Amino acid sequence: MLIQNRRIWDLPPSAITPEHMVTNRRALLGGLGAIAGGLVASPANAQWRLFSGPAAKMQELKPLSGKANARYVAGRAITPEKDVSSYNNYYEFGTSKSVLDAAQSLPTTPWTIAIDGMVKAPKTIGYDDLMKKVSLEERAYRHRCVETWAMTVPWIGFPLAELVKMAEPLGSAQYVVFTTLADQKTMPGLKMSYYPWPYTEAVTIQEAMNDLSFLTVGMYGKTLPPQNGAPIRLTLPWKYGFKSAKSIVKISFTDKRPKTFWQELQDSEYGFWANVNPAVPHPRWSQANERLLGNDEMVPTQIWNGYGEFVASMYTDKKSERLFV
Ligand code: MTE
Repeated sequence: MLIQNRRIWDLPPSAITPEHMVTNRRALLGGLGAIAGGLVASPANAQWRLFSGPAAKMQELKPLSGKANARYVAGRAITPEKDVSSYNNYYEFGTSKSVLDAAQSLPTTPWTIAIDGMVKAPKTIGYDDLMKKVSLEERAYRHRCVETWAMTVPWIGFPLAELVKMAEPLGSAQYVVFTTLADQKTMPGLKMSYYPWPYTEAVTIQEAMNDLSFLTVGMYGKTLPPQNGAPIRLTLPWKYGFKSAKSIVKISFTDKRPKTFWQELQDSEYGFWANVNPAVPHPRWSQANERLLGNDEMVPTQIWNGYGEFVASMYTDKKSERLFV
């Protein structure tokens, strides 16, 4: 996603602009500064300056705890909270990493999640009701962004499998699609009309049922801050971070593989599977190493982000698929 150290005008259009934008004058004009892949590098982040206003009043985070799950060992120091909560990707609030102020307008209460598609019966689950039905755990997971930065976070949440069971999908459903909030009133990033809002992501039912797949509602002993995807987000630590959709409002079940937000933008760079693999470079940069937020140390990236023992077996029959980019 990210192009650092290079200016947008140094890049060939094919490297920065999805094909459909090149042929769409309106989108191209509106899209000055957008990078297919995500990540902006407009001159001095002009797009972001457009969205930033005076310092916002921070939303109040409530204390939250979960039973520590010792099964998943992070094997690295926890990243300082201030780094995790101030260096974010949340395009609905702008393409810079500094969306902390802008994201404070995210309306997080009341919050509901619609369940639809191939389920026994569509329904809507309220966030508060959901919290009464699940037991929260704390899991320290490594997170690896496709841009090559990484962090280790004590997330609080519950297995995605629990929500899938509550949804009662039909036996024929094969994929779970996550749709996230797209609120024109509070999300200035939605004005970037060349992005295919709303932000969606998807996994197979098998991936959704894997115990590592986590629905996160808190971090560092508190409810999730808006910039990290309040009130509920996905956390899939063996996949590149863009798969971990924030602020989920709908979960749909289907038997057709959906095209997700980043695939719509540039499928050749951000595929459906997006599993971490240091040996498979992104078309525009290496994935061999990662930079740890907090101290900027560079460390080697691990296949499946180090979670192979829990997930690799899901892919043994999928060797012909583009599993890693
Ligand atoms: N979810 C939504 N709705 N919008 C986004 O822009 N960015 C993704 C993912 N989920 C994104 C999103 C990307 S690229 C990453 S790396 C992670 O969120 C970043 O999560 P963090 O800001 O909590 O570190």
